[in-house]
Amino acid sequence: MKRVGFVGWRGMVGSVLMDRMREENDFARIAEPVFFTTSQVGQPGPDVGRGAEPLLDAQSLDALRAMDAIVTCQGGDYTKSIHPQLRASGWGGYWVDAASTLRMAPDATIVLDPVNRHVIDAALDAEKRDFIGGNCTVSLMLMALGGLFRAGLVDWVSAMTYQAASGAGAKNMRELLEQMGALNDAVKPLLLDPASAILDIDRGVTETMRGAGFPTANFGAPLAGSLIPWIDTQLDNGQSREEWKGQAETNKILGLESQPLAIDGLCVRVGAMRCHSQGLTIKLTRDVPMAEIEQSITDANDWVRLIPNDRERTVRELSPAAVTGTLTIPIGRLRKMNLGKDYLSAFTVGDQLLWGAAEPLRRMLAILLD
Ligand code: HSE
Repeated sequence: MKRVGFVGWRGMVGSVLMDRMREENDFARIAEPVFFTTSQVGQPGPDVGRGAEPLLDAQSLDALRAMDAIVTCQGGDYTKSIHPQLRASGWGGYWVDAASTLRMAPDATIVLDPVNRHVIDAALDAEKRDFIGGNCTVSLMLMALGGLFRAGLVDWVSAMTYQAASGAGAKNMRELLEQMGALNDAVKPLLLDPASAILDIDRGVTETMRGAGFPTANFGAPLAGSLIPWIDTQLDNGQSREEWKGQAETNKILGLESQPLAIDGLCVRVGAMRCHSQGLTIKLTRDVPMAEIEQSITDANDWVRLIPNDRERTVRELSPAAVTGTLTIPIGRLRKMNLGKDYLSAFTVGDQLLWGAAEPLRRMLAILLD
């Protein structure tokens, strides 16, 4: 494979992908990296070790067709418009995509190689060409629980999520911080006075977050000091689309579509920046000893890390603040529940932009380059 085209490399997920590729020296393995743009054709592209080349037009089918592989973080609308035209024109290159548009298409494979390398290899053997990153919450859950799925220990999972602002986009991250700032500004004089009454401060915060001037253009509701128990669109069955993805994508990633496992839960946006957290209830297929559970989880991949169910370690290591910007997938709060000996509780945290978005794409490209 010689020519790899990159589209949407300047956005949030694209920038994280570029940083990771630079860190891992991936560009050295690509004979000809080609950078595309939707708005700045002809301007100098990034220098990834061979000098800056002019950016090509991301709408030009001829330019795209010259690529052996295209990696896109440009978003679903771009995929929806360009991918069918490229394929209809007979282009047979690899399409590696962060957007959800193609995920459930029969010809597409959802990539998370530490969990489903066997599914990826089978797809490559079958000459499949579309490799799509999974939903962030699903990928992070599977990085944490992959060992239990692999060992056949999971009957069903309920995932209650605590999802970061980054999952909604860069503008939403800014809005969260604007909301935090607005709340702080509103009560600053009272906060500076140690003798002020906390209920006066609280009243000021509440009035501000309910006020017309509070910045909610992107989230549509206050997130700072609050939460939003709905992510993505509304489906007819009462689920949000984010909740629907849990079962649909997990089973596709694991290659279990013919005998799907039940996965469900509630997806909630909280005021974290870029780490999604999940409280999991796992119905085991049998009463498995904790030592075996812990072994299965830790043996599954190089990034999952077991946090003992101990207050101090949990508070220090099992939080968005601890995990953000790292590839580590901590999982803790593991214990059998009052519900029965085959019910396991767990809590996991993962960076939504790394394992949740950019890293599976980077690794898929590395597999194609091998
Ligand atoms: N749908 C996710 C979220 C984004 O809103 O958090 C990542 O797939």
